[in-house]
Amino acid sequence: MNAPVQSLKGLDLKAEINRLRKERNAVILGHYYQTPDIQDIADFVGDSLDLSAKAAATDADVIAFCGVRFMAEVAKILSPQKTVILPDMAAGCSLEDSCPPEEFAKFRAAHPDHIAITYINCSAAVKAHSDIIVTSSSAEKILAQLPMDQKIIFAPDKNLGAYFNRKTGRDMLLWPGACIVHEAFSETELLKLKAQYPDAPIAAHPECPAFILDHADEVGSTRAILEFALKSPAETIIVATEPHIIHQMQKAAPHKLFIGAPGADGNCNCNMCPYMALNTMEKLYLALRDMEPRIEIDEETRIAAKRPLDRMLEMAGATVGKGDMGPRG
Ligand code: 13P
Ligand code: SF4
Repeated sequence: MNAPVQSLKGLDLKAEINRLRKERNAVILGHYYQTPDIQDIADFVGDSLDLSAKAAATDADVIAFCGVRFMAEVAKILSPQKTVILPDMAAGCSLEDSCPPEEFAKFRAAHPDHIAITYINCSAAVKAHSDIIVTSSSAEKILAQLPMDQKIIFAPDKNLGAYFNRKTGRDMLLWPGACIVHEAFSETELLKLKAQYPDAPIAAHPECPAFILDHADEVGSTRAILEFALKSPAETIIVATEPHIIHQMQKAAPHKLFIGAPGADGNCNCNMCPYMALNTMEKLYLALRDMEPRIEIDEETRIAAKRPLDRMLEMAGATVGKGDMGPRG
C-alpha cells in the first residue's frame, strides 16, 4: 500500500528541494518548456540535445528530470547507473504517442533499403528500432554526413521531416506524427500579429507546419530560438514555440518584448504543452523525497536504444551545450 501523501502546506518547497538536492547528490535538469519556478531551481536548462549531453556527463548520483518522459528515458539510457526520477510519469508527448513501436517495426520491415533517422521525441522502444537519433538542433549536421542517395525513413514528426526535406533537398519517407502544441498555431492569427508589429521577426520551432515556418525569420531548436531572440537587434520578437521559453528571454533581455505566437482563437492556451505542465514544484519535491517515480528500462531495450543515441552524440559532436546554468551547472 502507498504511504499517504502528507500535506505540503507550510513547506518551503524551494528550501526543501535545495536540501534534498544536496542530500541525494542530485542534479536537476530542466527543459525550456517548464514553468519559470522549475527553470529557476534547475541546475541546467537546455534543449533536448544539451540535456542529453548533460545527462551523459553528470557526476551526480540522481538525475531529477524536469521535462517529458522520453527525455528522462534518454538520461537513463545514457547513464544507467544513475537513478533518474521524473516528477510526473504521465508527462508523455503526442509525438511519442503517434508512433507505437510495433507499427514502427512493421514500417521499417516494409522498407528494408531505408535507414531510420528518428527524432528524439519517441519511446525507448522506437529508439531501439532506429539507426540514428536526431534532435532539431543536430539533424541538419547529421544529415549532411549521409550520402544524398541514402534512402531514409524519418519518424515520428512529419512537420520536422518535411522541413529538413525542404532544407536539404532530400526525399525522406515521413512517419505521419505531429506535435499537438506546434500544430495549434494559426497562420491567420500570426499574420494579424505581424500586421500589428511589422518590424518584429518571427522565430519558430521546426515542429510547426510549413504554413507557419514560411513566415519565420529563424527556424530552430528551443536553444536556437532563444539565442536568436537575444542576438536580434529587434526590440520585439514573435516566438512560435511553447511560450514558457519566454521566461529565459525575459530574464536575459528584460528591455525587449517577446510575444508568443497565437493559437486558433487568438488567445487560447493550446500552445502550452499539457505534458510539460504536469511537472510542478510540489511533484519535484516529492520525487526527490521519495526517489520516485523512477525511470526503469529493460536492459535489452536500453542497449539497443543507446546505439543510435551514441551515434547522434558522436555525429553532432555534442559536448554539453551552453544551456542556462543554475547552482550545479
Ligand atoms: P528542442 O530539442 O528544441 O528542445 O525540442 C524539444 C521539444 O519537445 C519541442 O517540442
Ligand atoms: Fe511533445 Fe509537443 Fe510537448 Fe514537445 S511540445 S514535448 S513535441 S507534445
